[in-house]
Amino acid sequence: MNIHDLQPPRPTGGTVVEKTLHYFNDSTARTVYVTDIEFPYPDGELIVSRTDTNGIITHANQVFVDISGWQREEIIGAPHCILRHPDMPKAAYADLWATIQRGERWMGYVKNLRKDGGFYWVYATVLPNIRQGKVIGYSSIRRKPCRNQVAEAEALYAAMRAQEGSHV
Ligand SMILES: Cc1cc2nc3c(=O)[nH]c(=O)nc-3n(C[C@H](O)[C@H](O)[C@H](O)COP(=O)(O)O)c2cc1C
Repeated sequence: MNIHDLQPPRPTGGTVVEKTLHYFNDSTARTVYVTDIEFPYPDGELIVSRTDTNGIITHANQVFVDISGWQREEIIGAPHCILRHPDMPKAAYADLWATIQRGERWMGYVKNLRKDGGFYWVYATVLPNIRQGKVIGYSSIRRKPCRNQVAEAEALYAAMRAQEGSHV
């Protein structure tokens, strides 16, 4: 499934802002709608997904499906950047990919975009799945983030985005 086939409808609630996301991997752009509505991370739950080596989603648990607002059938086979929020700096994902491609684990705070334009913060761990010495894909497990750390990440990411010279 191509990211460009997954255009969500314009949201109806909250303050809606239209943003253009430029993609790292294929130099194309996508319009996303962003609202100021935050969805609280559910207490005591883990959000889990797995991808192939290209970041295409191969597994998502029910908590992932519920909080993302997408249907399971829409998510499986879609690139993981379907969740990318325009407030996230590109450098965070460049660091994520460089780390996991070295065979290491990446940990960080991530602001994710829901299908309805809302957002949710997670504390994510992303790691390579290695079988017989070969990376066969990646897994991510998210936990409820600590609010103080979210506030710090928000400030850091805003500064990083300003350095990147644009909002996307
Ligand atoms: C296992 C795994 C989980 C990921 N989880 C997320 C995620 O929750 N949200 C997100 O925006 N990107 C996630 N990514 C990174 C995306 O693949 C992508 O790099 C990012 O959304 C930025 O898009 P871009 O690389 O096209 O610029 C994940 C990648 C992997 C391998």
